Amino acid sequence: MADTTLMDKLVSLAKRRGFVFQSSEIYGGLGSVWDYGPLGVELKKNVKDRWWRAMVHARDDIEGLDAAILMHPKVWEASGHVAGFTDPLVDCKHCKNRFRADDPRIKGTPGQPDAQCPVCGSKGTLTEPRLFNLMFRTFMGPVEDQAAIVYLRPETAQGIYVNYLNVLNSSRQRIPFGIAQIGKAFRNEITPGNFIFRTREFEQMEMQFFVKPGTDEEWFERWRAWRLEWHQALGLAPARLRFHQHGPDELAHYAKAAFDIQYEFPFGWQEIEGVHNRTDFDLGRHQQYSGKKLEYFDQAANERYLPYIVETSAGADRVTLTLMVDAYREEQVEGETRVVLGFHPAIAPIKAGVFPLVKKDGMPELATELYHALKRKLPVFYDDSGAIGRRYRRMDEAGTPFCITVDGDTVSARTVTIRHRDSMSQDRVGLDQVEAFLRERLEA
Ligand code: GAP
Repeated sequence: MADTTLMDKLVSLAKRRGFVFQSSEIYGGLGSVWDYGPLGVELKKNVKDRWWRAMVHARDDIEGLDAAILMHPKVWEASGHVAGFTDPLVDCKHCKNRFRADDPRIKGTPGQPDAQCPVCGSKGTLTEPRLFNLMFRTFMGPVEDQAAIVYLRPETAQGIYVNYLNVLNSSRQRIPFGIAQIGKAFRNEITPGNFIFRTREFEQMEMQFFVKPGTDEEWFERWRAWRLEWHQALGLAPARLRFHQHGPDELAHYAKAAFDIQYEFPFGWQEIEGVHNRTDFDLGRHQQYSGKKLEYFDQAANERYLPYIVETSAGADRVTLTLMVDAYREEQVEGETRVVLGFHPAIAPIKAGVFPLVKKDGMPELATELYHALKRKLPVFYDDSGAIGRRYRRMDEAGTPFCITVDGDTVSARTVTIRHRDSMSQDRVGLDQVEAFLRERLEA
């Protein structure tokens, strides 16, 4: 299967089955902004819930936070985003298109007479590169002037830094400890694309771990190992995951060291999460710009210091895309193509399909009863339309790991068949054992 074909097939499946739709589609869509449909919202929620459980609920040393998207504009001066969160862009004076200065389609040097516009082909019409800030701006209050500018946050991390003392003092944590947050971030990306991989509105799952200076490198190593394990436990193919260490020319302005966790997408190896040693850069800058002391007082050692920060920053949308790419497969079964999303059961949007074999002989009544009993506790789907094989195929495409069929034996012996998505094998299980059977396999 050609790689571009796989992405095309995924985009089409995502729309057909209700995972992801183009934003404002009836108006022609909005560039690189996507909406999650009924199955997609469940899948992404499962990713976020699993992250929250691993990072907050399962640990004693991490607290949760939900900071606002809009923040005081000085936050973004202190963080370096107003001055430095930029891409160099060039304009074509003839066709008015705008490009990244390093766009490989540009022939020649922008600003020089020989440079050629990649869209209209004009020569000498490309401007010198100018820096373009990637932050979205809006106005707060009734007057739309410079003083009213606020930004849609380009990362959730800053909401954690400015709240770190609030969390520390209210939770009675001591360093080392972390703060975790899931939330929307916005970047006016110039070259977005690859479906939900790079978008202008996306969700981050970020954790900032505050440590004593000098212990940062060991915490950094721990966190990068733990984060890779988290991705592996989602059931992703191990050979498609790797680390990429940032060289000196790649490091962000705040980072002393950084590793990306990369996945091998059909369009190449790409970052799904960054682990950064941000030193005391952020707290130092917020201390300087706000004039407020942000030092930590270690009572036991009777010393004050500005903590170092180890950050883990994953994209919820990128992890969701990774799961879809990794799960997609086509198989030939009895002369037909079976499309399967082989999600780990804990991640699958629907956990089980419930079917009456036929619409008579008491089967629909028993199947409906089972469906309602399960639905109160698990996302399940009732389907009585079409041949049983078709119903299985529909659930395979949605990534549903189990299908429960109520048949003649259910009526006489109170047992059902449970069909496994991946092996297509079937077990006979007592009606009163179905929930336990599912639970055992969904917990991971
Ligand atoms: N606070 C650090 C930070 O934001 P980043 O490497 O710029 O670091 C972290 O972003 C993660 O956020 C990335 O690994 C990616 O998963 C996600 N991300 C960043 N930009 C994105 C975009 N335009 N669309 C979707 N996800 C994005």
